[in-house]
Amino acid sequence: MSNDSSSKIVAGLRAWLAGAPPGTKLPSTRALVAQYGASPVTVQKALRTLTSQGVVESRPGVGTFVRAVRVARPNDYGWQTAALGSPKNRTPQLPTALRTAPNDVIALHSGYPERELLPERLVRAAFTRAARSGAAISRPPAAGIPELQAWFTTELGTAVPAGVAPPAPSDAIVLPGSQSGLSTAFRALVGAGRPLLVESPTYWGAILAAAQAGAQVVPVPSGIRGPDPDELARAFERTGARALYAQPNFANPTGARWTPELADQVLENVRRHRAFLIEDDWAHDFGITADPAPLAARDDAGHVVYLRSLTKSVSPAVRIAGIVARGPARERILADAQSVSMYVSGTLQAVALDVVTQPAWRTHLRNLRQQLAARRDLLAEAIRDHIPTAHLEAVPQGGLNLWVRLPDTTDVAKLVQNCEADGVVIAPGDEWFPAEPTGHYLRLNYSGPNPGAFPDGARTIGRALARNSRS
Ligand SMILES: Cc1ncc(COP(=O)(O)O)c(C=O)c1O
Repeated sequence: MSNDSSSKIVAGLRAWLAGAPPGTKLPSTRALVAQYGASPVTVQKALRTLTSQGVVESRPGVGTFVRAVRVARPNDYGWQTAALGSPKNRTPQLPTALRTAPNDVIALHSGYPERELLPERLVRAAFTRAARSGAAISRPPAAGIPELQAWFTTELGTAVPAGVAPPAPSDAIVLPGSQSGLSTAFRALVGAGRPLLVESPTYWGAILAAAQAGAQVVPVPSGIRGPDPDELARAFERTGARALYAQPNFANPTGARWTPELADQVLENVRRHRAFLIEDDWAHDFGITADPAPLAARDDAGHVVYLRSLTKSVSPAVRIAGIVARGPARERILADAQSVSMYVSGTLQAVALDVVTQPAWRTHLRNLRQQLAARRDLLAEAIRDHIPTAHLEAVPQGGLNLWVRLPDTTDVAKLVQNCEADGVVIAPGDEWFPAEPTGHYLRLNYSGPNPGAFPDGARTIGRALARNSRS
């Protein structure tokens, strides 16, 4: 009763206020009680609502008044410019892969798989169980709950060849997503002003994390077959770098999966230069026609620091990743992670562990493989059919993306803008280059919503590209 009456009074008074100049006193509570036939409590509630909406103000002991209209004064934040000085790097704009697109567009830009590709039933059940468990109200150990540490190292251990010591559960540290793992690894193992070799192109988030850590990013040419080992050797020699960041399996954006020979050559380079390889196994759960083969499984001398994420395959709401490192590097990483976030929510760890240890998780991954294969092939075919001047450098054996080369005359920024105006959101390849791009590319993601619209999306890109080349 009082809710309804109070809204009626609010509506009535709003109509009255429309004709009342600022400073006018509102009728007294008693008068309003009589006018609306409501209780004093209901009238007070209506006045509180109007106050919170900023249209009236109450002066205690005097009454309620129509609020004077304030002319908004722009704030002056100039003092912050002086206080902050110039930034280490110009803060980049929101990367395209993180943009939220409206429902009515064809979204080929996103980095995270859409809902129908996630193990939703498993995740929901795991949250229910976690909410009832001790994990919901206790503090987990700084390096993570032991069972989840053990799960990460056991997974990596399955790929360890004879003669190499598998990692121990205590080598794993649980982190809130692998993005934070990259930042931590770059700060702890590289540091400000020191060189970090990265593939070019590489994951934009790694470029960002390295820049924030103050590391000096050194690009090494890479592509659909992975980095050039001779260039890598030269870069190590020239710069004295002690770390390389790379994605040997289904790299974002190229989709490259290193051959065993290349993996050997890179490991040999890393060992020879007494350096770290920070291996980002972001797409471990997204193998399509090949299984991932982590390099970390072949190293027991602490050269490879291995990052495995569950955020994309379990749920973007369960930001959990594991980093496996041995020796003093592990202690440095743990110290950095603790300084940033102390520990990772035990509830999220319990949810992640619950999901990946259910028998249905394996079934989910098998189905996912088929869905990704169908989506990848559908998008690849749509590109071939409708974007004749684009060159699909390779159909990847796993991952979520196609890396598409455009004619050298393309104005990519304009193409992206025109496609968006026509309802298709795409990511410009430039964002994946740590230095000047060596060509014009698009990264097209096939794990977004509505794969049935891929042909329409490609048709739109093809038309926009044809206009782009003419202009
Ligand atoms: C190559 C790569 N590494 C790391 C990440 C970060 O993933 P997470 O969600 O685990 O932080 C991403 C996300 O797009 C990625 O593509």
